[in-house]
Amino acid sequence: MRAQVDVMCSKSVGTDLSMMDIDGFITEISLLKKELRTLKERNHKLNGEESVCDSHGSSDQTSTESPQGSDCNAGEQQMLQTPLKMCSVKLLDCRKMMKMKRETTSEEQQSDDDDDCNPSGFPGVMADSGVQMTRVRDVDNHVSRTKVSTSMSPSSSKRGATVSFHNINYSVKMKSGFICKRKVTKKNILIELNGIMRPGLNAILGATGSGKSSFLDVLAARKDPSGLSGEVLIDGAPQPPNFKCLSGYVVQDDVVMGTLTVRENLRFSAALRLPRSIRQREKDERVEKLIQELGLSKVADSRVGTQLIRGISGGERKRTNIGLELIINPPVLFLDEPTTGLDASTANSVLMLLKRMANSGRTIILSIHQPRYSIYRLFDSLTLLVGGRMVYHGPAQDALNYFSQIGYTCEPHNNPADFFLDVINGDSTAVALNKTYENEELDHEQLSSSLKGIEDRLVEEYKNSINYKQTRSELERIVQGQDYSTRPKSRTITYSTSFFHQFKWVLKRTFKNLMLNPQTSVAQIGVMIFLALVTGAIFFGVKGNSSGIQNRMGALFFITTNQCFSSASSAELFITERKLFVHEYISGYYRVSVYFLCKILSDILTLRTIPAIIFSCVAYWMIGLKATVEAFFMFLFSIILVSYTATSMTLAISAGQTVVAIANIFMTISFVFMMIFSGLLVNLPSIAAWLNWLKYLSIPRYGLAALEINEFTGLRFCDLRNISGTVGEVCSTGEDFLSEQGIEYSTWGLWQNHLALGIMTLIFLIIAYLKLRFIKKFT
Ligand SMILES: Nc1ncnc2c1ncn2[C@@H]1O[C@H](COP(=O)(O)OP(=O)(O)OP(=O)(O)O)[C@@H](O)[C@H]1O
Ligand SMILES: [Mg+2]
Repeated sequence: MRAQVDVMCSKSVGTDLSMMDIDGFITEISLLKKELRTLKERNHKLNGEESVCDSHGSSDQTSTESPQGSDCNAGEQQMLQTPLKMCSVKLLDCRKMMKMKRETTSEEQQSDDDDDCNPSGFPGVMADSGVQMTRVRDVDNHVSRTKVSTSMSPSSSKRGATVSFHNINYSVKMKSGFICKRKVTKKNILIELNGIMRPGLNAILGATGSGKSSFLDVLAARKDPSGLSGEVLIDGAPQPPNFKCLSGYVVQDDVVMGTLTVRENLRFSAALRLPRSIRQREKDERVEKLIQELGLSKVADSRVGTQLIRGISGGERKRTNIGLELIINPPVLFLDEPTTGLDASTANSVLMLLKRMANSGRTIILSIHQPRYSIYRLFDSLTLLVGGRMVYHGPAQDALNYFSQIGYTCEPHNNPADFFLDVINGDSTAVALNKTYENEELDHEQLSSSLKGIEDRLVEEYKNSINYKQTRSELERIVQGQDYSTRPKSRTITYSTSFFHQFKWVLKRTFKNLMLNPQTSVAQIGVMIFLALVTGAIFFGVKGNSSGIQNRMGALFFITTNQCFSSASSAELFITERKLFVHEYISGYYRVSVYFLCKILSDILTLRTIPAIIFSCVAYWMIGLKATVEAFFMFLFSIILVSYTATSMTLAISAGQTVVAIANIFMTISFVFMMIFSGLLVNLPSIAAWLNWLKYLSIPRYGLAALEINEFTGLRFCDLRNISGTVGEVCSTGEDFLSEQGIEYSTWGLWQNHLALGIMTLIFLIIAYLKLRFIKKFT
């Protein structure tokens, strides 16, 4: 019994009230009340009914909260007195402190009142006193219900929406075997799910692979509509096509810009997801309030952290992610396993935060793996999944009762969440005992078929339960005879801000990210300087004779191919941030075109243009190429254009890919082929006609031809030769050499190369954009 009492009161009694805000008090009071009630019931039973001791747990099953305790020693009643007293005192303290807090913050709440009137309906978390009075009533009633409305009105966004799901079935097609013997099998992932999630904390529990994340994705409209049937309604109306932009979704692996601080990340989310009608100052105020509410004040100016930068802790990171979604005050907040990777107490604090938000009227739906008891008791509703099927859906407090009714009794002191997983995995003591008696030794096949039997039985039992029938009748009432299932499911993305506003913010963030993470740009510039010095030293001071022709050709060929291969670094441009981009794009932060332009601009400027200028300034004069300003700038322009074209080709190959290595393989092969047709390794006029057309696809050929025309026109190359005993000078012109190479050296001949490079750049950029635009956006 002591252990049970400790479990029930330790958390609440140990809480520091001075640090708590009003929503915290509401949560705390609700928990204390529950605990006090359980303690009082226990005390009452011990007072009046000696028979409780003999019935060994059966009467205890009426207790909805705690694991069943059944040891009735003489000191038990005595031991109950201390926690009873502590809980009562704490409850009184809580109420007193909340009253004081309300009085001291009345001025601030007045301004929040105005906020609440705002049609965008942000506050929620930092709400006014009137709203909180309602919330206290909600807490007392435990489960609040909303009126079914037909749209996601501002009021529903304040109170949280009711999410109902009707006959959800989801399956995927699995391919196996080689191409000629390919078999396609259908795998059912979610089967006949029906239920309602109301404002409050709704947990989806199940063993790994039971379909929790898939179910959450379906509810959040983030699953691929092919293979999905059934309907998800929000406040009785079909999900709006842009539901993804209106709801919040915190993914399991945090997606946040690690180089920026917590505040900068939140400001970015506020700037792009809140409408432009809200002034920047107001958005900043909201960010500040959210930082306080999330308990992130101490780390607000710390960088979140990347693989290279040690940032904030896991719990703080998770809170930041939650904050990014809360900024729009979503009517429904989805969280996929918010406690993954967190230690027990951090997980507890994250869930306490969610509970506070749920108490303030939000609908929070989360999947969770193995919650401890202090987390489990926070749940308002519980959905248990086994192999994609539902074995329980209803109030969390009634779950233990339900399972004991169908023959699975939770052992004393066992954590209900662990118990449920044991039952559905067929490991429960009750199940295990049955097995031992019936079959002494079960082989693997028998075990899996008995497991299947347990699953089927649990599903059947649930379908026959009163809970299920009630849910069905309520669902019918919500649908009111309308058939939504035939309606085509459309998914669109809406934006709260204009193209230019998004462009400004995304560009700012992209450059900030580059500045704070300068390794790539510094390395690129460093390598370019080094290569320029090496090239300059090798080809230093080219002469005006035949060796000069060879050296010039060698230098120009090296420079062009170097420009092509160094563009390989752009392969990761859209790959490293892919997850962040997909998440932000489908949440309606910005348009694809905005992201695309900003990334291209930042890459082209910092990684292509600046290194090319530095390279040219060093190498051009060291090699001793044509010493005129026009020739230098033409050289610079040509190699920059080669770099742009090669980069855009790399982007066209890599956009949409998930692995940099694959993009690198494709690029290397393409550049090697292009290099062969560049004009140095093979004399282009001598190639057979059926292969000759390949030269038109070669980026280095255009670059090299432009550089050759720029360099060789107007030059004379003279050698001293001994012809029939007399030493004389034999000269040839640069134009002669160009003609030999099959290069047209007229003005058009020069500019046609630039034009071809420009067209190629444009085509590659369009391909890259389209690949990004049609990137897989569903899980
Ligand atoms: N697109 C898909 N293709 C093939 N199988 C899939 C697909 N999506 C989900 N599944 C399968 O469906 C099952 C449920 O997956 P889901 O990720 O929803 O489980 P989960 O309960 O969230 O598991 P975990 O607790 O490990 O996160 C798994 O067996 C998974 O392999
Ligand atoms: Mg999962």
